[in-house]
Amino acid sequence: MQFSIYDNPLNSWNGSTLVIGVFEEDTFEYLEKIGFIINTKQISEKIIKQNFKGEKGQNLCFDFLGEKLNSFSLIGLGKKNTLSNDALRKYLSDFARKISDRENKISILLPWQYLDKDAIKTAFEAIRLSTYKDNRFNKKKDEKNKLQEVEFIVEDKLSSISFKESESLCEGVEFARKLVAAPPNSLTPLEMSIKAEEIAKSHDLEVKILEKEQCKELKMGAYLAVAKGSDLDPKFIHLIYKPKGPIRKKIALVGKGLTFDSGGYNLKVGASQIEMMKYDMGGSAAVLGAAKALGGIKPEGIEIHFIVAACENMINGSAVHPGDVIKASNGKTIEINNTDAEGRLTLADALTYASNLKPDTIIDLATLTGACVIALGNDIAGLWSNNDTLANEIVESGKTAGEIIWQMPLQDSYRDGLKSHIADMKNTGPRPGGSITAALFLEEFFDQNINWAHIDIAGTCWTDKNKGINPSGATGFGVRTLVQWIKDNA
Ligand code: BES
Ligand code: MN
Ligand code: ZN
Repeated sequence: MQFSIYDNPLNSWNGSTLVIGVFEEDTFEYLEKIGFIINTKQISEKIIKQNFKGEKGQNLCFDFLGEKLNSFSLIGLGKKNTLSNDALRKYLSDFARKISDRENKISILLPWQYLDKDAIKTAFEAIRLSTYKDNRFNKKKDEKNKLQEVEFIVEDKLSSISFKESESLCEGVEFARKLVAAPPNSLTPLEMSIKAEEIAKSHDLEVKILEKEQCKELKMGAYLAVAKGSDLDPKFIHLIYKPKGPIRKKIALVGKGLTFDSGGYNLKVGASQIEMMKYDMGGSAAVLGAAKALGGIKPEGIEIHFIVAACENMINGSAVHPGDVIKASNGKTIEINNTDAEGRLTLADALTYASNLKPDTIIDLATLTGACVIALGNDIAGLWSNNDTLANEIVESGKTAGEIIWQMPLQDSYRDGLKSHIADMKNTGPRPGGSITAALFLEEFFDQNINWAHIDIAGTCWTDKNKGINPSGATGFGVRTLVQWIKDNA
């Protein structure tokens, strides 16, 4: 999809599909502005007849068959000075999805002077991400959206606008969506490592892929315990972004990368959605998507490590037994009382590895618990952190980026739930508060002087229905927040 800016005098514009956004207060006034191309009186009468009032998200479309201006659409923006970037994102997403199969090129005029300074970037991202389609695995493979060109009409010369960062961001989100949506027989740990190498190559990042033997040398007993039930070898992925110039901060982003989670011997049965467990690498997709986006944006002053312990949770003769005791790379022993709590085992070694790099901050993302979905549903991710400043920063960056994240407690008294008779801890506590004990478990695996945040995206990495910026399917949740947080804090 091509985006461009039209900043010549409005009355010299002569495209064929015009979309305007209008506030309730000045719908008609705004129409006057484009009187050079439409019959204002006629359109105004129709608008009244159709009961269009410019209310939030209201749409109205006119077709003028055969005329120069072929189609004209109105998007209601609600009351002036109340429009948030978030609402704009939603209205444009819904509209774009509707029009993307009908129009080849659209020109959009919004009352920019009343909008946030980043509104045009929000508009870019909303239109591009909401019209994303994934036909890689069906016969429409080569089909593209009809909508190929979007022109923003701005009335002042805003020549300094560049969509370069937004473009990198969207590439990262789309990359993450593709990883998540790919079926488990296609996106294997090996395939994920190849994708990571491709990102490294195209964006000039360092890459290390640790093989099983190297993970053994590092004594990653928790990660390897999960991986050994699969015929596919695990791949431990580590990408490094180093900025030009001085480094002020060092960050590690860690993602859960289960390319499939069968549950292991605690097999997922009943309504546990085993057939959806290809998305159990949503955390790693967010981390690699962020690597792709940030590799394009190249923020200054910040060194970023992207870490994924990729594997499958399967069953074979050498798979881990429920009851096994294993040892993680930080020396702690774990009684695996439930093989389906595998994500935290892989993260245990990934977090230890990240901690050894001595970063200022570690953020991990994981489709970690069904309990988080029960608590917060599909629109909100849970956040746990040992540092409230960091937690607030992430929540705020999420708000700016359009991803909702809610801080949850690291309730100290729940640590008891992880006590084991035989090992230093169990991997699973009681069912109530299950997403909290999962976070408490993770806290055992890094140096407590490091600021850490854990984001449980079990509910948000996938959507069954079109929702705002996300078409049904993989959302790429997390990429936008991570990139925003790095930009806000670099
Ligand atoms: N990958 C699942 C969590 C999950 C469940 C993600 C549903 C998305 C939707 C995770 O590995 C898991 O199975 N967690 C268990 C933990 C339990 C055994 C303590 C769960 O949530 O049931
Ligand atoms: Mn599981
Ligand atoms: Zn899992």
